[in-house]
Amino acid sequence: MLYHIVTYGCQMNVHESEKIAYILEEMGYKPTAKREDADVIVFNTCAIREGAEERVFGNVGALKKLKKARPELIIAVCGCMTQKEETALRFKKKFPFVDVILGTFNLHEIGAYIQKAHSNKVFELWQEGEIDEEKGYNRTSGENAWVNIMQGCNNFCTYCIVPYVRGREKSRKVESILQEVKAIVASGKYKKITLLGQNVNSYGKDLQPQVTFTQLLRQITAVPGDFKVGFMTSHPKDLTDELIMEIAQNDKLLKEIHLPAQSGNNRILKLMNRRYTREHYLSIIEKIKANIPNVKITSDFIVGFPTETEEEFLDTMSLVETVRFDGIFAFMYSPREGTVAAKMEGQVPQEVKNARVNALLALEKKIQKEDKKCQKK
Ligand code: SAH
Ligand code: SF4
Ligand code: F3S
Repeated sequence: MLYHIVTYGCQMNVHESEKIAYILEEMGYKPTAKREDADVIVFNTCAIREGAEERVFGNVGALKKLKKARPELIIAVCGCMTQKEETALRFKKKFPFVDVILGTFNLHEIGAYIQKAHSNKVFELWQEGEIDEEKGYNRTSGENAWVNIMQGCNNFCTYCIVPYVRGREKSRKVESILQEVKAIVASGKYKKITLLGQNVNSYGKDLQPQVTFTQLLRQITAVPGDFKVGFMTSHPKDLTDELIMEIAQNDKLLKEIHLPAQSGNNRILKLMNRRYTREHYLSIIEKIKANIPNVKITSDFIVGFPTETEEEFLDTMSLVETVRFDGIFAFMYSPREGTVAAKMEGQVPQEVKNARVNALLALEKKIQKEDKKCQKK
């Protein structure tokens, strides 16, 4: 009995696929890299951009032949795409050969659903609910162990689908996180622990009593052992001075910060509902650089947000030029059904988005090259 998992999207999905792998292995399945050999194929999907969704549709569609040749093969689709009911229904209609369709809130029940699928098709999406964090993980990321510290997002950036498919922010209890960290350290297999959340800076605001993200980091790094701790993703509006100083002073914390800016223009930032300005973003960067020597700062950008003018795009270019990031991800804005920005007038033509993303990436490449030369000298 063999299983094969195909994962799309962010680290959170990568980590959730480790949970799916654990559940399947408990049921007696073994992994295979070849999907033709698998008895169970799971697609863990991402809805962040249209391109990601199209790839999933294409690749699931391509399984039709396999399923025809081996009707006993079980195909499951879960994750962010299928948490949206319309998309899940589209899957059901377009690919009737898919056996199991789940969302994000019930993928930890995938074992029971796969059992059920031997006799019946399963279509089941839970609305927001408790996510079982105590299930094990079959870790696949080498010396790094992912640890989820919170679910969901409350920010509703106007372009983003995540709050709709992951629900509201829910922090995991400190004790539960510490227990997992201790087990990871005790196993002796990992040198690095990366904490995951859509907006880690707001960790603990929903706990009783409240706990700050910095306090959580102190407790995690107090666990004895030889390991480093990183985290993603930080939201600029919630990044505190306390956290910057903690990163500066705490030897166990990696000197790396991923701080998505999305745009360098204040009008666009406002339309995106990011709740910080270019000036505020730059002031945080200055503080980080002043207090943490050799810090690595990376970022995400979206070009071609509705109504973005050439001049406003140049503000993003100049922000990248000013900060000199150690790496950036640049994305063309992709309208997501159900979000505020998708309904905005002034959608930017595809050719313009293309040109802007290429210009931004070329600038980053130039900066990287120059900075590498400087380091060699
Ligand atoms: N929670 C994280 C990142 C979530 S998604 C944060 O707030 O930064 C990862 C990245 O995808 C985002 O930083 C953004 O740059 C990009 N992204 C999100 N929605 C998008 C959309 N509709 N079109 C293009 N890029 C998008
Ligand atoms: Fe999406 Fe914004 Fe939440 Fe990040 S902070 S997941 S970009 S809504
Ligand atoms: Fe994609 Fe879901 Fe992550 S939409 S980016 S897999 S939270």
